[in-house]
Amino acid sequence: MNSSVLDRINFLRAEIERHNQHYYVLDAPLISDVEYDQLFRELQHLEAQHPELQSPDSPTQRIGASPLKSFAEVVHRTPMLSLQNALSEDEARAFDTRMVQALGEAEIEYAVEPKFDGLAISLTYEQGVFKQGATRGDGSFGEDVTQNLRTVRTIPLRLHRNIPFIEVRGEVLMMKRDFAELNRQQGESGEKLFVNPRNAAAGSLRQLDSRITAQRHLSFFAYGVGAVTGETLPTTHAAQMTFLHELGFPVPLERRVVKGIQGFLAYYHAIGAQRPSLPYDIDGVVYKVNAIAQQEHLGFVSRAPRFAIAHKFPAEEALTTVLDIEIQVGRTGALTPVARLAPVFVGGVTVTNATLHNEDELRRKDIRIGDTVSVRRAGDVIPEVVRVLLEKRPPDAREFVMPQQCPVCGGQVSKQADEAILRCSSGLYCPAQRSGALLHFASRRALNIEGLGDKIVEQLVESEMVHTPADLYNLSLKKLAALERMGEKSASNLLGAIERSKSTTLARLIYALGIRNVGEATAKELARHYATLDNFMQADSESLQAVSDVGPIVAQSIVSFLSEPHNREVIAQLRNAGLSWNKTEQAGDISHTLPLAGKTFVLTGTLSGMSREEAKEKLEALGAHVSGSVSQKTDYLVAGDEAGSKLTKARALNVQVLDEQQLLQFFHI
Ligand code: IVH
Repeated sequence: MNSSVLDRINFLRAEIERHNQHYYVLDAPLISDVEYDQLFRELQHLEAQHPELQSPDSPTQRIGASPLKSFAEVVHRTPMLSLQNALSEDEARAFDTRMVQALGEAEIEYAVEPKFDGLAISLTYEQGVFKQGATRGDGSFGEDVTQNLRTVRTIPLRLHRNIPFIEVRGEVLMMKRDFAELNRQQGESGEKLFVNPRNAAAGSLRQLDSRITAQRHLSFFAYGVGAVTGETLPTTHAAQMTFLHELGFPVPLERRVVKGIQGFLAYYHAIGAQRPSLPYDIDGVVYKVNAIAQQEHLGFVSRAPRFAIAHKFPAEEALTTVLDIEIQVGRTGALTPVARLAPVFVGGVTVTNATLHNEDELRRKDIRIGDTVSVRRAGDVIPEVVRVLLEKRPPDAREFVMPQQCPVCGGQVSKQADEAILRCSSGLYCPAQRSGALLHFASRRALNIEGLGDKIVEQLVESEMVHTPADLYNLSLKKLAALERMGEKSASNLLGAIERSKSTTLARLIYALGIRNVGEATAKELARHYATLDNFMQADSESLQAVSDVGPIVAQSIVSFLSEPHNREVIAQLRNAGLSWNKTEQAGDISHTLPLAGKTFVLTGTLSGMSREEAKEKLEALGAHVSGSVSQKTDYLVAGDEAGSKLTKARALNVQVLDEQQLLQFFHI
């Protein structure tokens, strides 16, 4: 009996997924909704009667599972990179010139695609079955949103082929029509409306309760492959996209292959014209060198491939009025004038503030209170005032005068000779700077203290409970729970997050200190170079300039930060509070995030396309360890022609054996 039930269940699962594909991916349904519902209900019924036959890749699982407490962290096997941007045709031309020069070819072939305005995700499949889906996160670590992604009908739960392992990259988004429908429902039930499809998609993807995600109708489009094993991929990007489509993934219909600048600019204009009628939001187009061999030759610049670029559409602009101009004091004491605007919908969101950058900018654009201005916003970029419509200036428009004192602490303000920025000179005695410093310290890429937001920080600073980041580690449950909008439970969650932040990396700690001009990438380089906090704290300007990325200005910022006794005291207090960092990460904070970190390879036999030495160098550049002999610890043996005893030993130890083609796949990211 059970075997025939199982047969029927398997048949229904395959049939329902086939119809899902036709309906959602190919947009060409084969049966009516009623017939589909019948199949679905029959499957639900059989699974309910035979819970032992339930399976995570059943289409019935697409309706969501029980809520999670939090998302687990996922390490991306190949980092999720970003794209370089071209904001003008000139920048797009310059990209082509770079490609022509680097590849030594007169005309380059490009695969061109829409740039989806959604959220990047990575999907992993083992033996053709969907195993895990993760957000991009910081590119190296993302959040496990598998339960939510299972509910996305266009993500196949089972591929059309049993590839041993494949990581597929793409974008989750909400179609314009699903967004309109969602907001209609939200409005009807008196719930808050989403500002644009991207925000709706982001909110839906990060739901801890996947049953809610299931009701939100997210979509997915694939745009690339990450790691693969056991399969030889096609040798052009365009062919890889077709391959992904054949596996069951939706890929954009609007993808093309073009030649040279003329080709990609024509595509840019054609897609720009179609933009309003496309079923999803896009914010530009992407050009990718089509031949994978050429992509490999070009390689990467910091966190982006050299072989691809996003050519963005111009930012949208809208008119509004300046209601007032106020001063915001930032983490470094900078006094930034901010325009308070009459709410205006631009670039997909309602804008009520725009930065005016600094006094020079304010004067140059001659922005006055009461003026009508044009406001621009692109993607996630902070809105800015482009220009004033002088013909609309009312007679009573008022000029804004920069304050002589810090509006937050009353401290002195001053301007450095080479800077346009006015700064409050009270340092951490100024509550605004203290709040800014604490928020930076707690931010995701610094010590990542979840739940320490601006409202709480403001209260901690105002009540004088916290003066420096080190004070965070002395907070008690009682003190925290007494804050506004803080219950016992959130206070205890926050304390937990503070406690967890004690175990960190040297790079994060250096970044968290908030030294002027020291961003995340520089902090990583510093951690790698100095390896210990003590070494770093003794650094002088000369030694600092030996670190890649560090020039005289950055070196000067670090030296003056470290020579401030107050800062050294905070560092000492952080140490006393029990902050610690992992030794190996400390020595090479970047290398552990490399795609092949922790993997051991052995190379044997003769490779046809490169020498073993070259292969070794490339693998090591991706973070792998390359060893001379096969052991239990070997992850992969790469066997070229005439491989001998190492191959035999690898087989005996069940070590995965790769041929040269498969090795090459590790080199595409
Ligand atoms: S390729 C190596 N193709 O743009 C980077 N990205 O700025 C791989 N995006 O995080 C990206 N449409 O979320 C690629 N057709 C497309 C894309 C696309 C949208 C997003 C992606 C990425 C961001 C990079």
